[in-house]
Amino acid sequence: MFSSQAYSNGHHRQQGGSATSSEQQLGMSHRQRVRRGSRRSRDSRDTYVSGGSIRVSEQEQQPERPPFTDFDMAYFNSYAHVGIHEEMIKDRVRTETYRAAIMRHQNFIAGKVVMDVGCGTGILSIFCAQAGAKRVYAVDASEIAVQANEVVRANNLSDVVIVLHGRVEDVQIEEGVDVIISEWMGYMLLYESMLGSVITARDRWLKPGGLILPSNATLYMAPVTHNDRYRESIDFWRNVYGIDMSAMLPLAKQCAFEEPSVETIAGENVLTWPHVVKHVDCYSVTIQELQSVTTRYRFKSMMRAPLHGFAFWFDVEFNGPAISQTNRQPSALMADNQAEDGSQRKKRTNPNEALVLSTAPEDPQTHWQQTLIYFYDPIDLEQDQVIEGSATLSQSRENARFMNIRLEYASGQRSFVKECVMR
Ligand SMILES: C[S@@+](CC[C@H](N)C(=O)[O-])C[C@H]1O[C@@H](n2cnc3c(N)ncnc32)[C@H](O)[C@@H]1O
Repeated sequence: MFSSQAYSNGHHRQQGGSATSSEQQLGMSHRQRVRRGSRRSRDSRDTYVSGGSIRVSEQEQQPERPPFTDFDMAYFNSYAHVGIHEEMIKDRVRTETYRAAIMRHQNFIAGKVVMDVGCGTGILSIFCAQAGAKRVYAVDASEIAVQANEVVRANNLSDVVIVLHGRVEDVQIEEGVDVIISEWMGYMLLYESMLGSVITARDRWLKPGGLILPSNATLYMAPVTHNDRYRESIDFWRNVYGIDMSAMLPLAKQCAFEEPSVETIAGENVLTWPHVVKHVDCYSVTIQELQSVTTRYRFKSMMRAPLHGFAFWFDVEFNGPAISQTNRQPSALMADNQAEDGSQRKKRTNPNEALVLSTAPEDPQTHWQQTLIYFYDPIDLEQDQVIEGSATLSQSRENARFMNIRLEYASGQRSFVKECVMR
């Protein structure tokens, strides 16, 4: 099953670290994590327009159009299922923040042309129509677009909302847009790699001075302690109905902690202020910039506790283009937030100015929860003990929607590497 060298009691020494998981799978095996669905019957390349008079042409050549792979097919199939959309829409923090953002920018939206990148059931497109948009292009490559068109029709909005069933990378529209709205965020912000499609839409259609919602996003990480989780999954095997089942420990650790885990933690689990892994300005970010993100961190534990791993979460803000201009120098912003121990304080714009959708442990829970990367064995930390290292998140070469994660961490004289794949 696994060699002792590969498993190495859970810790991969810096020199010898190797990926613990292969990237062979086509499907997305971690069901909780992935918004999955059922089969699709149409090929998304056969773009068509539903309920509108705007022509969508497959003839026009898109030289840089990415290939439509089997992975894309599986991905869009996953969004054909109602359950995924139900979960997202029932996430009131998410959906109500989007609606509030649309209403807050009503002056910008009324009478304007909007594109909803990945419209799903069409809910955000309809919010934009309710805010007075002149026209909304609701684009989705999944079969859910057929449903979106039905929903639009049933709400007598077919004159305003034009559902385009196809990839944003493939569809054609014959005018620029004033506003791009999209709910593109995946677990750990970048999982699913959907932001690239928003960038494509921005570069193809957004008029100068146009609005992007959300306007910017920030991914954070912080060290966590989580005794309950460790006890439930690992210590449990030490005494099972009076039987010593410690022989199960290596397997239990591997099964519980090999892959990133999407779960909810509390503020008390977090040992320090978070570190900003990546700040994204949606007006200027490039596709290349997202292919691999590396950050160096340095944390000083605020308490004495076992360190079980790192948690990742994100927030997004809904600023107009003017405010977002100030976010174009993230390094300057972060320098202001630099704490004495080298970590970065949580960056928050003045709440009177910015509407924030947060997935932080201390904020109301969302369907994104937090993403945990556990070590196989905890490290006992003293108060003020330093943990430092780096984190690299990169798109899998095989399937850009999967994410390779490499964590290097050192404390005292010991250094470790943990590599895993979020699939
Ligand atoms: C997270 S869901 C959001 C759905 C909806 N906007 C909402 O807020 O409920 C993302 C949607 O984007 C679609 N999508 C992702 N990438 C796309 C692309 N490149 N072109 C068209 N649709 C895409 C997916 O099929 C999915 O329905």
